[in-house]
Amino acid sequence: MIDCEMYQPVAPPEMERRHLEFRQALRLPKTLHSIYAMVRQDFETAVLDEYLWSFWGFHHLQADLHYRARPWQKVQLRAIEPEDVAGLGLWEMGLMLNMAMEDEEPIPEYSYQSGEGFRFLLPTLARYMGKHQEQARFAAENGLQWCEGAWCAEERRHSNTLARIIERLMKKPPRRDNPNKPMVVTATEEDALRHLISRQTTEWNASSSYIVMAAHATGHLHSLIRNLERDEVKHLCIISAASAYLLGPRPWRRFLDLVRKGLGNFTNQKKSRSGGDAFGTNPITAIEGIAAHLLTEYYLRKWLKTVPLRTLKLVFETPSSLPELGASVLSPERQTEMDAALNRGREKRLALDRWEPETRLQAAQQRQFEASQNLATAQIIAVDLGGFQGCETPGTEQDKDLRKRIRRGEYGSDRVLQNSLIDHLRDFQIRHNHHVLALASCGSPP
Ligand SMILES: [Fe+2]
Ligand SMILES: [Fe+2]
Repeated sequence: MIDCEMYQPVAPPEMERRHLEFRQALRLPKTLHSIYAMVRQDFETAVLDEYLWSFWGFHHLQADLHYRARPWQKVQLRAIEPEDVAGLGLWEMGLMLNMAMEDEEPIPEYSYQSGEGFRFLLPTLARYMGKHQEQARFAAENGLQWCEGAWCAEERRHSNTLARIIERLMKKPPRRDNPNKPMVVTATEEDALRHLISRQTTEWNASSSYIVMAAHATGHLHSLIRNLERDEVKHLCIISAASAYLLGPRPWRRFLDLVRKGLGNFTNQKKSRSGGDAFGTNPITAIEGIAAHLLTEYYLRKWLKTVPLRTLKLVFETPSSLPELGASVLSPERQTEMDAALNRGREKRLALDRWEPETRLQAAQQRQFEASQNLATAQIIAVDLGGFQGCETPGTEQDKDLRKRIRRGEYGSDRVLQNSLIDHLRDFQIRHNHHVLALASCGSPP
């Protein structure tokens, strides 16, 4: 196809842009309200609980398709028309979609970054997101599917979907000769931790920018962008929870790491993406983008604070029940080195070695208390709290009432005991999330 038949993002003349921005500014309160409503809905505690538990489901309940890839809401692509873009210049929606498509495209490279980068840091996460060096080599030599992880299954549908939306809106297919070249990530501690921040930033940016796009979309276009956005929220939730497990609760340091990385990405995108020079020049879109980023961070952080260490350990540390992926054979010496690195990684995680001394001490005290009071706590939960039955869904009246009673000291005045009971409640809720409850009510026990 010749170039003029392909879509390329181009900004309209200055006067026209200013006029579009003025109209977008008039609609700003409505747009911000719709951003807020979407974040409240998609970052609800029950939703994020289900996403986190789906990581465990991927490793242990593969027969359930829900755990292999998040189901999408059905959408008619052919019903999408330019009129579905609301309160934003069509050219700018095209630009944002095209930049997102270029970002989304190199999934095999990203999956290699994570499979290799996280192989010692957190092997279950590496398996969820990709393949390490030897597995990737084996797959390439044997012509096997590149990546079987749930992350890949969800990500690989994004760039094609975006390309098809662009074609519907701009009436031309986008160019697919992608200028995006991901960096190589090794499995060293330094690279792995840098990659952990980088992935959280990418999932945060993706979630927030799809929320902004969805706020300017109606009908099937809105629903389709929400499908993409919810996949990204799921990834953000899982990777942020993994980061909290590995590095401990460090909300402000995490936020600063993400903002620093995000600003670097922004500058890089302006330089390297098609039409990137026009990206970030509209102050109204910038306000919408910042609002989406802050709201998503706020609600994610609020949820993350409630996820107990016991649940994080269970979700991320339980060895996967999946069959081992094929991998090229290593020399015995190299295999011994790899096994030693895996063991070192596990010991470091279990000792909370990367946590701040203060939070590590708090976690150790909580653990010590729970170990010594295990029987007494179990008895309170079973007898006085009825095994938390009826409190499966966070935010319900029963849930709020039970928390109040715990905090009022009805089951013990010791603060550590109260924290422990709340932790057990959250652990119970995460394991009995909406999806699990729905399965149980259909007669198939979780
Ligand atoms: Fe994506
Ligand atoms: Fe993602």
